Amino acid sequence: MIDGQSPVPHDGPSPDAPHRLDPAGACQHAVNEELRARGAAVPILLPGDVPAYAITRHKELKDFVGHPDVAKNARHFAALQNGELPPDWPMGTLATIRGLVTADGDDHKRLRSLVTRAFTPRRVEAMRPVVHELTETLLDRLAAAAAADPDGVADLRRSFALPLPLSVICQLLGVDAEYQDRLHELSNEMVSTETVPERALAAKHEMMAVLSQVVAARLKSPGDDLTSALIASWDVGGGDSENDRTETSDRRSEQELIGTLLLMIIAGHETTLNLITNTVRALCNHRDQLDLVRSGAATWAEAVEETLRYDSPVSFFPFRYPTTDLTVDGTVIPKGAPVLVSYTSAGRDERAYGQGADRFDVTRRARHLSFGHGAHFCLGAQLARMEAVIALEGLFTRFPNLDLAVPDDRLIPHASFIGNSPVNLPITLTGRP
Ligand code: HEM
Repeated sequence: MIDGQSPVPHDGPSPDAPHRLDPAGACQHAVNEELRARGAAVPILLPGDVPAYAITRHKELKDFVGHPDVAKNARHFAALQNGELPPDWPMGTLATIRGLVTADGDDHKRLRSLVTRAFTPRRVEAMRPVVHELTETLLDRLAAAAAADPDGVADLRRSFALPLPLSVICQLLGVDAEYQDRLHELSNEMVSTETVPERALAAKHEMMAVLSQVVAARLKSPGDDLTSALIASWDVGGGDSENDRTETSDRRSEQELIGTLLLMIIAGHETTLNLITNTVRALCNHRDQLDLVRSGAATWAEAVEETLRYDSPVSFFPFRYPTTDLTVDGTVIPKGAPVLVSYTSAGRDERAYGQGADRFDVTRRARHLSFGHGAHFCLGAQLARMEAVIALEGLFTRFPNLDLAVPDDRLIPHASFIGNSPVNLPITLTGRP
């Protein structure tokens, strides 16, 4: 489906005008259905009317992200390199962020191995009792929030789905609790596709400043946390011989390390927050499926996997660039064009999952791509799965009648085409009103 030989690109306007992605957040599934009908690779317009492409189907997405002629580093982004984008282009911060998600080849392998050396399966597993304990505390907080409301309504997102992964990633990294709320606000500014560029940049700088303090504290007194392990893996501040390191290389490693921490905070909670929210929403809207899990016919883990497919927490993920003209499903994507892969769309691709692709079925046991594929496969998949399963089981065991407090069509999508979830999830613990 993907080939590197470039047929002559057609001149003149395409029969279909490019689809303009809505930075304020639209229903991802409605957008995707329309895009999939147009093909596996579709011209789109990003904020600021920047031309780009979206990959919409499962097989083509898998092939594209694994293709040797597809890169992630912004030095391949033709319009950016040619100075065709305004300096305050809203998505510029995301495109040029330094670290794992924008590294290719050996550079990416090096960075990734520094992280995997410290972020081991054993370290994740060691968080299990912490996740259980936090879940119990937050269930109390959820009950208190509902009890305090005259209609018994609480926002599951704010009282439960957000603080759980945020506390987990902060505890894992050894970030003090006092920074948590601010880090979430800043991370939110950075991933919102509606944020004005100055705010995104200011948020990034403030986040880097907070994380510098965390690194400085851990350098002084290392602990049993992931940041200390990452510092050891990076060898930051460890140069004892003037011959083997310079101030510049030390500074560069430190910046790289702080960039990685920043990525882990954002990736480590915004996504899991959406996964927990989307799974609760799907189970409330499909009580027969919830009953299957409760009766043991399916597991909580299967409900979580089906949600990852059916309502992926990550939607249009930026950016990749072909390093040569590539043809995907008959569409020529020119060298250097920015491409977003739509995980929400791939999850409902009828070609991959059949006619009932838009049906939520916890017994489906189908593979999905929602943690990515290939060299950039999500490093936090094990942690996210563990958190979501413990959260879901705890939630529906403590509150078997938990349900949405408003009709599903009243839920408002989050202001982003990167993340996919409603902005809040009003629930009652005593059943649908
Ligand atoms: C439900 C939760 C999560 C989802 C759906 C998710 C999804 C993804 C996806 C789709 C990618 C690949 C992006 C691409 O290149 O196309 C990715 C990469 C990544 N994720 Fe996650 N993620 C989740 C949770 C986490 C957590 C909890 C962490 C860290 C604690 C994390 C850390 C990362 C990192 C570091 C990368 C970059 C890997 C690389 O570029 O080599 N993620 N994630």
